[in-house]
Amino acid sequence: MTYLRLENITKYFGSFVANDNISLSVNSGQIHAILGENGAGKTTLMKMISGLSQPDTGQIYIQEKPVKITSPNTATKLGIGMIHQHFMLVPQLTVTENIILGLENSWRLNLRQKHQEITALSQAYGLEVDPTAKVENLPVGIQQRVEILKVLYRQAKLLILDEPTAVLTPSEVDSLIVILRQLAAASNTIIFISHKLEEVIKLCDTVTILRRGRVVATTTTEAVTPQKLAELMVGYEVDLQVNKSPALPEKVVLKVENLQVTDDRNIHAVGDVSFELRAGEILGIAGVDGNGQRELADAITGLRKIKQGKIKLKKYSTIAYIPEDRQKIGLILQFSIAQNLILKAFKKLPFCRNYLLQPAVIKNHAQAAMQIFNIRATGEDIQVSQLSGGNQQKVILARELAGEADLIVAMQPTRGLDVGATAAVHLQLLAERDRGAAILYISTELEEIMAMSDRIAVIYRGKFVAILDVQTATVEEIGLLMAGGKL
Ligand SMILES: Nc1ncnc2c1ncn2[C@@H]1O[C@H](COP(=O)(O)OP(=O)(O)OP(=O)(O)O)[C@@H](O)[C@H]1O
Ligand SMILES: [Mg+2]
Repeated sequence: MTYLRLENITKYFGSFVANDNISLSVNSGQIHAILGENGAGKTTLMKMISGLSQPDTGQIYIQEKPVKITSPNTATKLGIGMIHQHFMLVPQLTVTENIILGLENSWRLNLRQKHQEITALSQAYGLEVDPTAKVENLPVGIQQRVEILKVLYRQAKLLILDEPTAVLTPSEVDSLIVILRQLAAASNTIIFISHKLEEVIKLCDTVTILRRGRVVATTTTEAVTPQKLAELMVGYEVDLQVNKSPALPEKVVLKVENLQVTDDRNIHAVGDVSFELRAGEILGIAGVDGNGQRELADAITGLRKIKQGKIKLKKYSTIAYIPEDRQKIGLILQFSIAQNLILKAFKKLPFCRNYLLQPAVIKNHAQAAMQIFNIRATGEDIQVSQLSGGNQQKVILARELAGEADLIVAMQPTRGLDVGATAAVHLQLLAERDRGAAILYISTELEEIMAMSDRIAVIYRGKFVAILDVQTATVEEIGLLMAGGKL
């Protein structure tokens, strides 16, 4: 039975068509994937189903009844809940407060009772969380659970998850998959957006592929391979393998000695880490999220004070940093693409001459970068907040890789990127290595670490438990070390 049906939905932003005559049906109790390149229009479409915006033309049906979803409140009443690409939780509030936010308008709020309700709900779905914990203190995997609980608390029958796994670790992904299957088996309907093709095939029943705002195919996942899906998305054959030549390491660029760093709550995050990184090599850091990677990267790039130890950089070295959180520290969302691209160089020639910004130079620079990094937007003057998630990430990459830095610290550089853009970033970083950059490549995706690194350090509870050569290391070995096991 059809639960949701979209009929000829079109959405414009100015003269740009973000969704072009989209029709699709999602059946009850099914997990339906929406795939497409960065900027293909996935989030735009989902926002209309969840009442955050309205289509310019077209009709939405729920259980074959035509509906007008004029606000998120209307969507909630219709049983629709969306979990957003960029989390919308309030960090300073507790789990319970976040979950009930906007729902309770009675004078006397019985928080104890709410805690109990939420504990019961979380137990019923195997989504364990502490209802009294502050959201800002929770790892992203748990925050994701809170987002799901929030939707379930509102008794959603249709759940939309916009790239829920981009920030999760492999084991968190596995537990999310179990939860979603359970929800579908209880006849909830799920729309699932992801750039991870294997995951889509594993989890979903049906997949609809968008390209440049249009539906190009709908198929069952049984009938496709990751390779085929990639082709449908981008319209050409994509090489999903990373092919790289052996590294030719040169002088030491970065030397870290007995480094200790604490996190925001002054708790030990990095303990006694020592290593060397040479020009022309990629040192991958493998580890489960939250084992000190963020604090290590922040310390090396000078954003966080160190507690003890030394970080020595080769004289006159320049650093590029691709941070994990693109919206908080990577970009200024209210600024244009062009402005974000020169954040590190706006006082310098050629962008600034005699204290005056040079608009023509800045514009040309932006247009060139947009072409090289395939940033999909209507112009260089549009606000970065209006870009799709993946295209925001490309702006950071374009800025950070522009300066031929001696040291590149890349943290989850392909998070949220589509398969084509991921392949392009891998090639760009390998080219940076081959021109002599020293690269610290931090990722929670073990496959990516294996593919990109020359050496691999495994971080566990803030310590390097091993530094291995990629030629001889195995996935099993690294997986074991990441989980705190011993070889
Ligand atoms: N508020 C807006 N104003 C102008 N353009 C917008 C706005 N929101 C989205 N767009 C444009 O619409 C297009 C589709 O964006 P959307 O966020 O739907 O892409 P997406 O498929 O979700 O991509 P990603 O995989 O990167 O998240 C993009 O080109 C984007 O720049
Ligand atoms: Mg999106």
